[in-house]
Amino acid sequence: MKATATAHPNIALVKYWGKRDIALNLPAAGSLSVTLAGLSTTTEVCFEPHLAEDVVSLDGHQLSDERARRRVVEFLDLVRRAADVETYARVVTYNDFPTAAGLASSASGFAALAVAASSAAGLDWSPQRLSALARRGSGSAARSLFGGFVEMRPGTKPDGSDAHAKPVAPPDHWDLRCLIALTTRGEKKVGSTEGMGRTQQTSPLFQPWIETVDDDLRQTRLAIDKRDFSALGRIAERSCLRMHATAIGADPGVLYWNATTVSLIHRIRRARGDGLPCFFTIDAGPHVKVFCPAEVTDDVVDLLSDIDGVRDILTARPGPAPTLGAA
Ligand code: DP6
Repeated sequence: MKATATAHPNIALVKYWGKRDIALNLPAAGSLSVTLAGLSTTTEVCFEPHLAEDVVSLDGHQLSDERARRRVVEFLDLVRRAADVETYARVVTYNDFPTAAGLASSASGFAALAVAASSAAGLDWSPQRLSALARRGSGSAARSLFGGFVEMRPGTKPDGSDAHAKPVAPPDHWDLRCLIALTTRGEKKVGSTEGMGRTQQTSPLFQPWIETVDDDLRQTRLAIDKRDFSALGRIAERSCLRMHATAIGADPGVLYWNATTVSLIHRIRRARGDGLPCFFTIDAGPHVKVFCPAEVTDDVVDLLSDIDGVRDILTARPGPAPTLGAA
């Protein structure tokens, strides 16, 4: 009744921002992402008969945030119910990158937890079914069940069984790099669940945003298929800016950016105008992720390092699906 899994975060090129069902965590529209090698979460789950409750630790410390602990416990309840297991579990998780700073730690976190907990409980589920399970923890986690370029399907069934991700292209399809410019340390103030909830309830820009997503998905699939970098960049920046626009239009507005985020946007666009192939995307935090073809990585790193307020740069590339086994 013990298993360990390693999963990778993913960065969306076509963003997920809104839900069609809160209880089952069903997305209001599809999304499309790249799973990233170079960053990982490793989670060990052990169902132990003597435990009086679930014990969860992250990066060597017992989870102190009660909301975060509840989220894990409720997720374990889903696995227990499916596997007919009644014992509590010990969950030990390590991230090798900053947690909860807008770096998709919930994506790799719930993907690793889905794989480790289901295996420890004796469930032998397909990646597709595990993707729908991971979605219950965090919508973006459903995409981390696959490697490379991955599309999330919103599904139409009320029970959410068809709301899972599917692979679009393997990691070696396209030798891209994703450079993550960290613009602050510490945790973000408005989590993505809260930010998208407020957007959906109060932003007049929410519905128009949802109506743009299918077109972005179609065009992104084509750009990936043809390895058309400039088309991919155009759609990804547009999806990111529209997602943030709908959030900024909430009441009160949800603004994830700081001054360095904005400097980076301008600098990347200027560099592209000067002939350097690169584009940005930003999630529910102030950091900026910059995609480029592998051969210009050093030039992009130099560019980002020169910007005031960039504290660190992480390098990632299209990476694999989760793995089960010893870390
Ligand atoms: C901006 O997957 O964290 O990163 O389903 O409520 O847990 P919940 O939300 P989450 O949202 C991710 C939002 C995003 C865009 C994306 O990854 O598609």
